[in-house]
Amino acid sequence: MEASVDPPPDSALIPMKGLTNGLTHGLTNGTTNGTTNGTTNGTTTGPTTGPTTGPTTGPTTGPTTGPTTGPTTGPTTGPTTGPTTGAASGQPEEHDDGSAPAPNLQTQYKMIHQAFSDKWKQTDDSMCRHSMSFHLHHALQKDFFASFLYLLEKTPVVKLFPVTCEYIKGEKQFYYRAQKFYEDVEPSEEGMLGDFVEISDVDLDQSRRFLSRFIGPGKAGTSCALDCGSGIGRVSKGVLFPVFERLELADMMEHFLLHAHEEYLGDDADRVETYYCYSLQEFTPPKNKYDVIWMQWVACHLTDHDLATFLAKCKRALRPNGVVILKDNMARNGCKMDLVDSSISRHLDVMRTIIHKAGLEVVALEKQEGFPDVIMPVWMLALR
Ligand SMILES: C[S@@+](CC[C@H](N)C(=O)[O-])C[C@H]1O[C@@H](n2cnc3c(N)ncnc32)[C@H](O)[C@@H]1O
Repeated sequence: MEASVDPPPDSALIPMKGLTNGLTHGLTNGTTNGTTNGTTNGTTTGPTTGPTTGPTTGPTTGPTTGPTTGPTTGPTTGPTTGPTTGAASGQPEEHDDGSAPAPNLQTQYKMIHQAFSDKWKQTDDSMCRHSMSFHLHHALQKDFFASFLYLLEKTPVVKLFPVTCEYIKGEKQFYYRAQKFYEDVEPSEEGMLGDFVEISDVDLDQSRRFLSRFIGPGKAGTSCALDCGSGIGRVSKGVLFPVFERLELADMMEHFLLHAHEEYLGDDADRVETYYCYSLQEFTPPKNKYDVIWMQWVACHLTDHDLATFLAKCKRALRPNGVVILKDNMARNGCKMDLVDSSISRHLDVMRTIIHKAGLEVVALEKQEGFPDVIMPVWMLALR
């Protein structure tokens, strides 16, 4: 058995090492601290970003309701994790009632541009035309618009980040809200998929077929895979265990990993080498270890910057011919924020830009078929 790597120094984790080498550990005895392998102990899953706001959790808070119907809203509908409806952000992107759809990215930029122009004009109108300040103001205005247009044209990432930031309104709240949300989610398939548990089979089936395209002679090996944002290990169980000798699971929620190990994975749990209880934004997977790194319905929980950083780390964690497989909701346009579980669904083009920024390439992509129309499109992307 390979030795487990040391964890990054400042991360909260369950040091779940050596499951197959006879070491005792947290998850099997129900404790997560004070483990016996001498790695970083201490707290495990407390909010990593700190409670900078009041409780924003739960489906009952203000902005999470509104026009979002169906599975992502309402205090009685339970978790809204995983697949989500197109209207999850409170901004329906397709309107059955015939009203106008949400503006696409380009229109949104034009609107931002217009807002700037209007603001400048207001100042303009209130100034004395012959004053020094008026001329200065105009010079600044000219430079400002030149820079703005330059950024839009030349630097795609820059023009995308403000869009996400606008929705996220602060990273700390974004992560804290997700943490609080998942604390209340049951460790079960229902918990992982919200109101759409019935899609699990069709989801796993297509995932298995997609994965098979990248495995085999001259392609990725079958030694070890990492399931990121694994939850209770639904994907591990249905897709990865049948293919890989060993698995590792990473998720920020301790109770999901505990359930995976103690119950959900059954005897296959013996083949889990390490459970990492980390937030992905603080996690560095060991280098050159994995044939496949699977990320399903978790990229949506990372900011653009953290996602790009984590993907870059994943690239370094792959073995030769290895692939990262990212499966997630993709907004039909722009970005859609779900304030209930604190996730952001991005348009494929936005996702591609982030992937590119991480130094990875999309080598294949496939749209998930067979999901109900009400669910936002889900895509699988193979990256290396
Ligand atoms: C919708 S569930 C999907 C679980 C699993 N991938 C599946 O498809 O069944 C999302 C999972 O991501 C985890 N998660 C959310 N934000 C995370 C973060 N920043 N770091 C690590 N895990 C996170 C949650 O704890 C949860 O288990």
